[in-house]
Amino acid sequence: MRTLIKNGTVVTAVDTWTGDVLVEGERVVQLGSRLDVPVDRTIDATGKYVLPGGIDVHTHLDMPFGGSTSADDFSSGTIAAAFGGTTSIVDFAIQYKGQTLHHAWETWMRKAQGKAVIDYGFHMIVTDLNEQTEAEMDGLVKEGVSSFKLFMAYPGVFMMDDATIFRALLRTGENGGTICMHAENGGVIDVLVQRALKQGHKAPKYHALTRPARAEAEATHRAIALAEMADVPIYIVHLSAAEALEQVTAARDRGIPAYAETCPQYLFLSYDNYEEPGFEGAKYVMSPPLRPKAQQDLLWRGISGNDLQVISTDHCPFCMKEQKEIGRDDFSKIPNGAPGIETRMSLVFDGGVTKKRISLNRFVEVTSTSPAKIFGMYPRKGTIAPGSDADLVVFDPLRETVLAAKTLHMKVDYNPYEGRRVKGAADLVMSRGKVIVDGGKFTGRAGDGVFLRRSGRSL
Ligand code: URP
Ligand code: ZN
Ligand code: ZN
Repeated sequence: MRTLIKNGTVVTAVDTWTGDVLVEGERVVQLGSRLDVPVDRTIDATGKYVLPGGIDVHTHLDMPFGGSTSADDFSSGTIAAAFGGTTSIVDFAIQYKGQTLHHAWETWMRKAQGKAVIDYGFHMIVTDLNEQTEAEMDGLVKEGVSSFKLFMAYPGVFMMDDATIFRALLRTGENGGTICMHAENGGVIDVLVQRALKQGHKAPKYHALTRPARAEAEATHRAIALAEMADVPIYIVHLSAAEALEQVTAARDRGIPAYAETCPQYLFLSYDNYEEPGFEGAKYVMSPPLRPKAQQDLLWRGISGNDLQVISTDHCPFCMKEQKEIGRDDFSKIPNGAPGIETRMSLVFDGGVTKKRISLNRFVEVTSTSPAKIFGMYPRKGTIAPGSDADLVVFDPLRETVLAAKTLHMKVDYNPYEGRRVKGAADLVMSRGKVIVDGGKFTGRAGDGVFLRRSGRSL
């Protein structure tokens, strides 16, 4: 099968040019202008951008959490991703205490296989580090699960102490893996949560009020310091607070290889959302929490100045009905997380490029190229070049949509951006040479997504 995408504005992290992209089988085979070759299908991209498919390196599909399971599985979640212009995800497999890492990987493979419509890789959430699991980390890096998430929060569930974190960091120094850190001081937060509950504070906003920015900044500082002592790079996930960003910036200014991602919710939503009437604030219960609106500009500055390298989603949807509702009388029982896998590209394009906060090339870099590079997928993913996978998005920079749970494809009964008008949308999406979204219709097939065997650290 040969497809020619003609006359589009082709955008990578470094170039913007008008011309044609020739796809043969699963790969891009030629770039040029006025390519005159026999093909099976021609796609006219006049007036549109041709982008490398979005890469979302932070998703939680079919994930058990706090007595619930995230509402999107690998079928609905990856279909929603595709509609939004995302063609690869890296999801989090969880090792529960007493289990091997390979058991966790196999469990998450079973969740994805036969369901995913786009390619998927896994980070491994490590909760039980011992001699055996340390050795397993080495094997996983070789087998393509080359990054590990550790938690400084959620005591008794996921949280690790500093010595264990330090051992894991040292191990990645030897095996070439990358540690991704959930940086919040879980001990302090737990005390604040218990105190708030004792004082009778039950409403969703207390989720934010018991997770201060300092708790995120302190943990970010400590995570970077531990990585510095272990002499390895570190990647901070879902950074939300300007104070935490200051820690990353200060480290990078000293030449320390500290990397960080933020997410659209921290760029477009704020603490004010927790003050919505009744139980509505539960929609935004996630960790770290939303911060004061004034911090959004500081995060955008971090993105444009490369102190933040990636915008991922932390897609972890729970319905209001029967899921978030569990915490109606106790904010600490509200499942943490919000939907975002489908809206990331349009939100970041609209808020970033259209509003002139970042360039078009930087948009591609933070949503596709940098995640591919940091997590061992580049240049197979994250760019448009001969030999790279034909994961391509024909993106209309002028098409306006109004975000609404009813018309989006995520399986969740609300959307945090309900009613927001955004400019810029994916018209056509191709995954390894096959068109999977075309003019608002899904044309892909369950199970066509394949496991992404990622290489080790290139940082
Ligand atoms: O609230 C969040 N972020 N839920 C997902 C789990 C995590 O910590 O990433
Ligand atoms: Zn986290
Ligand atoms: Zn997460």
